[in-house]
Amino acid sequence: MKVLNFGSLNLDYVYDVPHFVRAGETLASTRLSTFCGGKGLNQSIAFARAGAQTVHAGNVGKEGGMLLDALREAGVQTSLVSVHDDVASGHAIIQNNADGENCILLYGGANMCVSEEQIDRVLADFGKGDLLMLQNEINCLPAIVSRAHERGMTVVLNPSPFNERIYELDMACVDYLIVNETEGEAISGKSEPDAIIETLLSTYPDMHVVLTLGKNGACYADKDSRAFHPILPAAVVDTTAAGDTFTGYFFCELMQGSTPYEALRMASAASSLAVSRKGASVSIPCREDVCAMLSTYTDKE
Ligand code: ATP
Ligand code: RIB
Repeated sequence: MKVLNFGSLNLDYVYDVPHFVRAGETLASTRLSTFCGGKGLNQSIAFARAGAQTVHAGNVGKEGGMLLDALREAGVQTSLVSVHDDVASGHAIIQNNADGENCILLYGGANMCVSEEQIDRVLADFGKGDLLMLQNEINCLPAIVSRAHERGMTVVLNPSPFNERIYELDMACVDYLIVNETEGEAISGKSEPDAIIETLLSTYPDMHVVLTLGKNGACYADKDSRAFHPILPAAVVDTTAAGDTFTGYFFCELMQGSTPYEALRMASAASSLAVSRKGASVSIPCREDVCAMLSTYTDKE
């Protein structure tokens, strides 16, 4: 089973700030760091560090060399990433405040250059048994979802960042949906975690749902089973890519035959380590570090 992640690649410009800039305010940042990010790239690196054979598909501009290098260094295959000389790479301007919280301004750039021809070329080598990972930072998602479903791939959607384009997708073609509470509410119309899950499963009975709850942990549900795992406490430095780390580790574990509870446990440990480190993809831990953390953790199942 291979993982194909058709997703974004961003240069992240991270500004340390005492508080998020307010309307009309000019605020001096105390530090600028440049990292490789994008929900797509982060999730590919999380899958690879978790141990999955991972192929990334997407688009970068001519200054996107460091994004490709970061994927390759993590062991992700990049032959399906196209380089465009006439478009800027996607980027994100991230403010990181003293509590480790962030707010993010995105510029899609090359991430929005997905073409119909590219979709067919990318999907050609994948089929039944392969997993397709998607986020909402590239264009043409509806066509990618329906064509991957037709090919028999397992479609996993992380509809993040959420916007109205998600309503254009045929959710019946989505096998696994991984959402935080905001995204879960936008799709289900419900705000309580149990109600989000019940509504999603009654609308899409064959769907498998993962709902992440920030500091309150994460849960999994399908028509036959439920599982929950709390967070593993961490000294929070920067929460950027906590959700991406969780996603890669959770689905890698599940693909390798773990139960949903075991996958939640592994993903919770991985994302706990990620929030204790600065940056997006650089904060994603390797499998050895996650296993070492879990070896000192007492399970409360
Ligand atoms: P982000 O957009 O910040 O990457 P998200 O909104 O997609 O994250 P969250 O639900 O905030 O997703 O976090 C994903 C998972 O990360 C949580 O389910 C939890 O396991 C872990 N996590 C989040 N915050 C913390 C924290 N403060 N300490 C430890 N683990 C955390
Ligand atoms: O999920 C974190 C990511 O969101 C950052 O790396 C940034 O590029 C934005 O896409």
